[in-house]
Amino acid sequence: MPGEHRENFSAMGNEKVIYPDPNHPDRIRAELRKKESGYQPTERQMRGRFYLSKILHFIFPAAIPEVYAAGTKDGGYLDIEKVETDEDHRRMQAARAKTESGKHLSNEESVEMRQLAQKREQDPKIHDFVNALRKLGVIVDPTGDNYSYGSDGSFQYLDNSFTPWQINRVGRKLVKAYNADELAKAIESLAPEQKEQAKLYLERLEQLFKEEEEVLSSQPETYLTAKNGR
Ligand SMILES: Nc1ncnc2c1ncn2[C@@H]1O[C@H](COP(=O)(O)OP(=O)(O)O)[C@@H](O)[C@H]1O
Ligand SMILES: [Mg+2]
Repeated sequence: MPGEHRENFSAMGNEKVIYPDPNHPDRIRAELRKKESGYQPTERQMRGRFYLSKILHFIFPAAIPEVYAAGTKDGGYLDIEKVETDEDHRRMQAARAKTESGKHLSNEESVEMRQLAQKREQDPKIHDFVNALRKLGVIVDPTGDNYSYGSDGSFQYLDNSFTPWQINRVGRKLVKAYNADELAKAIESLAPEQKEQAKLYLERLEQLFKEEEEVLSSQPETYLTAKNGR
């Protein structure tokens, strides 16, 4: 998509650029921004991210948008359910786009943006959500501009940060960014159909992690010199 659509981005974060999906108006495409630095996620990394996101959407259906696809193309991407963001959220995004394009915010603007973000960071519902995700061993960004409110007071977490594992370069080890036992426990409380599906996703995720670990131990040099695997 970049190249082709790069100028059409609708939002920009530190990790991702968000594009409208021309074929699906109800979806966005989130593209990882790190390819400039040589980062290339592995196929398993993106598939792991997909399964972990699916499971988390089942556990928090109102707060975590559905994910439809993920792949390594263009440095890594995810196709995600598009959420209608609230007005303050959009203002925070616009301020972010302004700084991203090299312009400065006025003091008043900076103070106001900080206040808007803090309001979300101090919302007990969001606080509980962040803690619940951390208990599942999952990476979550608690910064206020990642959250948007629905008209009924519910909130959505609009930063898919669910990388499935990280590499510990010093220890040459792959470390899970999820706690399989805690996920399995949370899956037990799902409705029967979702439970079966989520169990399958968790099995696949665990399998992918095992395979990725094997690649790391059998070909450490490729893995550790390419900036991949995260
Ligand atoms: N599913 C979505 N629906 C609508 N807007 C989204 C969605 N996901 C992300 N965005 C918008 O893009 C912004 C940046 O996305 P995010 O995933 O937070 O990127 P980064 O990880 O780089 O911070 C979000 O704050 C939000 O405004
Ligand atoms: Mg973000």
